[in-house]
Amino acid sequence: MSVTASPPAVRSFCITRSAKIVSRPRVVMAVRSNTISAASILTKLQKDCATPLPVLRHVSDAMADDMRAGLATEDGSDLKMILSYVDALPTGNEKGLFYALDLGGTNFRVLRVQLGGKEERVISTEFEQVSIPPELMFGTSEELFDFIASGLAKFAQKEGGKFHLQQGRTRETGFTFSFPVKQTSIDSGILIKWTKGFAVSGTAGKDVVACLNEAMKRQELDMRVSALVNDAVGTLAGARYWDDDVMVAVILGTGTNACYVERIDAIPKLQGPSSKSGRTIVNTEWGAFSNGLPLTEFDREMDAESINPHEQIFEKTISGMYLGEIVRRVLLRMAEGAELFGHSVPEELLMPFALRTPDICAMQQDTSKDLEEVGLILYDVVGVNSCTNARKVVIDVCDTIAKRGGRLAGAGIVGILQKMEHNSKGLIFGKRTVVAMDGGLYEHYPQYRRYLQEAVTELLGPEISRNIVIEHSKDGSGIGAALLAATNSKYGHDF
Ligand code: BGC
Repeated sequence: MSVTASPPAVRSFCITRSAKIVSRPRVVMAVRSNTISAASILTKLQKDCATPLPVLRHVSDAMADDMRAGLATEDGSDLKMILSYVDALPTGNEKGLFYALDLGGTNFRVLRVQLGGKEERVISTEFEQVSIPPELMFGTSEELFDFIASGLAKFAQKEGGKFHLQQGRTRETGFTFSFPVKQTSIDSGILIKWTKGFAVSGTAGKDVVACLNEAMKRQELDMRVSALVNDAVGTLAGARYWDDDVMVAVILGTGTNACYVERIDAIPKLQGPSSKSGRTIVNTEWGAFSNGLPLTEFDREMDAESINPHEQIFEKTISGMYLGEIVRRVLLRMAEGAELFGHSVPEELLMPFALRTPDICAMQQDTSKDLEEVGLILYDVVGVNSCTNARKVVIDVCDTIAKRGGRLAGAGIVGILQKMEHNSKGLIFGKRTVVAMDGGLYEHYPQYRRYLQEAVTELLGPEISRNIVIEHSKDGSGIGAALLAATNSKYGHDF
């Protein structure tokens, strides 16, 4: 089948949908052959996606091994194990006005927060979200950074009310940049590569803070980037502000990643002065993990046709950008080869990324007898007319892909915890340890969340898993970046 690769749909994760059927011109293609049944395609899919305990155990062990290899040498593993230069986490004493800028998906967010120290904590926050025009995801570096700097400048102009900049100070911001960056200091870092469907020219190999600084200069915006952080790192910092037991943060949204608190003496590749605290946050970039994953022909085809073939395989198996697309590919096979939706295949079903993860999530929430909502979504999104039996098959496909994703994400989390426990016996499994979770996929997909938790419990057993708290930390990464801007302020800590 030849399909034109179009910009992936990485729109925001929203599960509500109007029940109104949209009338549309329909172009249908004739079904090519009818040699296999949808049931047999489903059975094979379920077999190929299965994640029984031995598979989970293999993934968690391999994740821990890859982490060790990535900490030993640069390029020692699929996992980059990037040093974040965040050696001190927020304590609650931070005070003053700080900004955060968050670029990581199809939206970028700007935020300001007035911090009031231990007593008053977060006095006030304000944020705005702007969606990035799709053409900028494929444009030049300058265009993208000009767009975000101008959004930030407009937002800064509206400052007032409860927000006060201390006299004589320059505004400071944390910059959450959710792509793999080789940090060179807390406020600089080189983009290794774009992920999540971004293909902006001229940024890879450059310092992204310098790119932002130049764009802010062009906008005549006087603001200093005091911390460059990945969204996982921002989430850890934001969650830690409220809870000292937070040791790991995981993002499950359009893309995926995890970071954790590591002991300096467990990082052989670290050269130069070590941190005062003896610890630092390591950004695993686990989206690049690939060892022993249960993959199907649909995953392989999707990967081959992607803009980054052979890269980010864990991300392509478990994250929000891809789950809907894998389901679409399975349904297309069922429509073409097994007449799942009758004698023709709607053109829309041929469109890469036409079915999004929020769609498959919304379909899975339909508990009605006739699966009416499933029928509406199939019609509305991919132009498919379906009978109840076909809808049941669709739900089984969605569930198979969500289950594999959730369980593998759970195995990845256990891999990180195992690695940490190995270094510090009893300090992870023997006490309350919190894993802070963020991202639309985790937040809005209840079945996915449940599968993730089940895998963690299966792997750790009931006793240890009682100590491991996996909890949602909503929008922690924005506040986290602002908090890290405070911790790393050029004015030091007068708190
Ligand atoms: C990026 C990570 C990011 C994650 C979640 C991945 O594609 O490589 O840096 O943390 O998405 O946003």
